[in-house]
Amino acid sequence: MDQQEYKMLSDKMFTYKGTVLTLAKSRDLTPEYIDSLADFETKDDDVFVVTFPKSGTVWTHRIMTLIYAEDFPDKANQPIHEQIPWLEYRAKEKNYNTRPSPRLFCSHLLQPLMPKMLQRKGKVIYVMRNPKDVMVSYVHFSNNMKNLISSESFSEILEKFFTGLMLGGCWFDHVKGWITNKDKYNILILTYEEMIKDLRSVVVKICEFVGKNLSDAAIDKVVETATFKHMKKDPLANYESPSLTDTDCPKGPFLRKGTVGDWKNSLTVAQSECFDRVYQERMKDVPLNMVWDIS
Ligand code: A3P
Repeated sequence: MDQQEYKMLSDKMFTYKGTVLTLAKSRDLTPEYIDSLADFETKDDDVFVVTFPKSGTVWTHRIMTLIYAEDFPDKANQPIHEQIPWLEYRAKEKNYNTRPSPRLFCSHLLQPLMPKMLQRKGKVIYVMRNPKDVMVSYVHFSNNMKNLISSESFSEILEKFFTGLMLGGCWFDHVKGWITNKDKYNILILTYEEMIKDLRSVVVKICEFVGKNLSDAAIDKVVETATFKHMKKDPLANYESPSLTDTDCPKGPFLRKGTVGDWKNSLTVAQSECFDRVYQERMKDVPLNMVWDIS
């Protein structure tokens, strides 16, 4: 472990090599374990859903569990995090090598920390969201979760966002890492905004990417079950599970608003302009041509 790259942020979170993780008691999470993931053995039919927090992670997970429902009929009522486990938050007793294929995983890790083998075997679905909406969503989320450092204000979250001291690390580095290295992976890049605009097209795109041939009726069912209205009432999508420790459970519902542009209700004009200046500077070399409207 590289000591210089490791720092405790509080008794709840630590940063290591640019990522920021929570220290939930139930998990065997150490910097050494994060380092060991570089050698994690991937398989051709593995799919990793990778996101920066608050970009539509659980939404995409739910879509994946629905698309793969026929592969694991016995798991249909399991919590989403058991159907698509976290790569970095592996529970001590779980051995991913014995997990039946096709294996689905999720991760918030920065690109350099991911398994090296994933560049040859397996697929990645990377989901991005307008960073201003990510910030606003994170403020509510961090105040809702007992295992995170809470955020007092929007000016505080701007600071955290710029320094990368929030769950997942630095959004700019996350997106930059995955976008600039995308050609090394078998990757499908999606945005939260396109999911909101036309969920059915996104579900079809995912099915084509992972090689799942669903009937029109089955696709309709996936779309219907993955709508915000439906998921808001779905205990599987709201971290309501007896297998979670108290610290891992939100204090209130996990699904909040599920809209595009909610930042306009929270950030001041000055905060938004400050964000735009930093964004232009830090993302100037990133070939991101399907960008959300961030102004
Ligand atoms: P808001 O806080 O803006 O409502 P993540 O899963 O990466 O933490 O992202 C959480 C965000 O995705 C939350 O955004 C949540 O409401 C939104 N979300 C979850 N399921 C959704 C759905 N079916 N439709 C739209 N948004 C959804």
